[in-house]
Amino acid sequence: MKKAHLNDFLKKPSRVIVAIDRKITDEIVKIISSVSDIIIGVKIGLITFLENNPSEIKHFISTLKEKNLYALADLKLADISHVMIKICEKLHTIGFDGIIAHAFVGRKGALEQLVKVVRKYSLDIFLVIAMSHPGAEEILNTNFEKMLSLTKTLHATGAIVPATMPYYISKAREYLGKQFYLLSPGIGAQGAAPGSALKHGADAEIVGRAILNSPNPIETTRKIAKIHMCVLNERKKETHT
Ligand code: C5P
Repeated sequence: MKKAHLNDFLKKPSRVIVAIDRKITDEIVKIISSVSDIIIGVKIGLITFLENNPSEIKHFISTLKEKNLYALADLKLADISHVMIKICEKLHTIGFDGIIAHAFVGRKGALEQLVKVVRKYSLDIFLVIAMSHPGAEEILNTNFEKMLSLTKTLHATGAIVPATMPYYISKAREYLGKQFYLLSPGIGAQGAAPGSALKHGADAEIVGRAILNSPNPIETTRKIAKIHMCVLNERKKETHT
């Protein structure tokens, strides 16, 4: 399957990546297909890997490709290089375009080797450099600066930064510039407003339950997309003034 890269999708009218943390059912396929014109793609988490077998996920990804959608694997890899590389190879075979790994595992014997394999397969890699839940402030986020710097030196595709703590988005954008992509979870169910991460400099917003648990997921996605269009227009105006 041909690999896509996140930057191929940034011309879309909105910047939603739908987080799927559940079994992929016909209903989910229907929802995603119906909003394919306005979303970037989907992020698939561990729950889905436990609920669907790899061939079902592979089939879902081929449906995504037909609809020109991006497929991101969110297994939040955090292990020695040997193990992460094996998982990465499987994710590549299943057809994912990008993967997510934790930055805290560090460079030597972990991310340095993983990044080489990611390049070999032309995958995107995003590093988690801060998390969106309150407890993240206790340990993980206190190392934000180091993980931010690692994102740059490893030439990762970008980073995952929380919409619930937007100062991390602004700091990451300031430090990384426009060459790195920032994806922000925490919209809706975790409290951040749609469009708020984009306003702080994120490239895309990851939205799960606020869409998939809503009474009308298609309508909710369209509403969020409209907000994105407004924010993106504002951003455009600001860069032109
Ligand atoms: O349902 P909700 O929109 O809260 O889902 C957020 C998604 O983003 C989940 O898949 C979660 O694993 C992921 N995520 C997060 N915070 C991070 C990194 C990833 O919420 N820092």
